[in-house]
Amino acid sequence: MKVVVTLACVLGLALFVVCSATFTPATGGPSDAEQTTEVMRNALRGRRWIEFKEGERAWLTEKQIQQLINAKAHFMDVTDHPGLRPIDGLTSSTLPDVLIPRHPESIDKLLKELSAEQIGQTITDLSQLYTRFYTSTTGVEGAKLLHSKYSEFARNQSHISVRFFEHTWPQPSVIARIEGTGENAHELVILGGHEDSVGFSTTGRSPGADDDASGSSSVLEVFRVLASNGFRGSRSIEFHAYAAEEVGLLGSQAIASTYQKEGKVVAGMMQLDMVGYVNNNDPVFGIVTDYVNESLTQFVRELAQEYTHLPVKNTKCGYGCSDHASWTKAGYPSAFPFETDFSNINPNIHSPQDTLDKISTEHAREFAKVALAFLVELSTQ
Ligand code: BES
Ligand code: ZN
Repeated sequence: MKVVVTLACVLGLALFVVCSATFTPATGGPSDAEQTTEVMRNALRGRRWIEFKEGERAWLTEKQIQQLINAKAHFMDVTDHPGLRPIDGLTSSTLPDVLIPRHPESIDKLLKELSAEQIGQTITDLSQLYTRFYTSTTGVEGAKLLHSKYSEFARNQSHISVRFFEHTWPQPSVIARIEGTGENAHELVILGGHEDSVGFSTTGRSPGADDDASGSSSVLEVFRVLASNGFRGSRSIEFHAYAAEEVGLLGSQAIASTYQKEGKVVAGMMQLDMVGYVNNNDPVFGIVTDYVNESLTQFVRELAQEYTHLPVKNTKCGYGCSDHASWTKAGYPSAFPFETDFSNINPNIHSPQDTLDKISTEHAREFAKVALAFLVELSTQ
């Protein structure tokens, strides 16, 4: 109730004071030139353009955005990519329309190597940083830490590259890539998670163990196992650690938008954001069903049934709740498995209490298993 009231107040304030625009999409709205002027004027006032749902936008100050985060509101900051949408003519992937797990023996062999201890070690290293807020120096250190772990696991393998994706703010995203071997090597299968964290304020302690060291550490662990076994698909595989998710999906929007402009083909994207929390000793494998691609999600459901013993439970996350939404917005198919269902969420996120002792690395490993199967299956069929 408190959350609802706070949120209503924040939104009320925002919409009343700023009331710059209820965004009018496509026809009938302001011209491009008018919009550009509007964007520049507000940007100069230090405001950001926040989208609460499709077509509902307002210009907010940084302080108002922090209030939104504290009220656990879902939103996207669309200031940098106001026109991101699916575009015609983007080549679609050569994946079959209906995906069926083929379950090659190689997957079982690889899954055995996934280590809960490794996931725990990376969570420890990331959550020891005071905060991984996207403008903080320790936030930059978090990105560097992941980059160096990726580089170490990629050592001496010329078909693997690791790079920073720089942004207009201090924290870069990190991208590791295993080059495909087939005719469709230009097509991508992506596994992502976010590297940043947020606390009660921009300068507060924010270990972000579950949200989302658990996801980005699991993504790294899948990479470690595939790389050390010399695995290559016919499609290329990318591992993404997104900067600045917590302030409105900024890093993933920048990457999805760049890939779209470059005409890149994405066969499928899976987001791991919060994979370590078990509620009441009753573990489930949650699968988000909103703002995702339905057939890709069905495939993930089948993979979960195949590779974990956890009961699979559908759940909804709401508008713009994690980086998969940036890919959906750009017209790419995405899926989002989740640690629990949304009626049982981890109460510690976005606070100093989001620490490793409150989550389970064994639970995270179950998600890494499904993610590994996803990459092998999608990159080879
Ligand atoms: N990991 C969360 C998403 C989340 C939050 C899932 C609560 C389940 C329960 C993500 O990092 C997050 O905090 N997202 C924000 C939206 C973002 C665009 C500011 C949220 O959901 O409040
Ligand atoms: Zn979060």
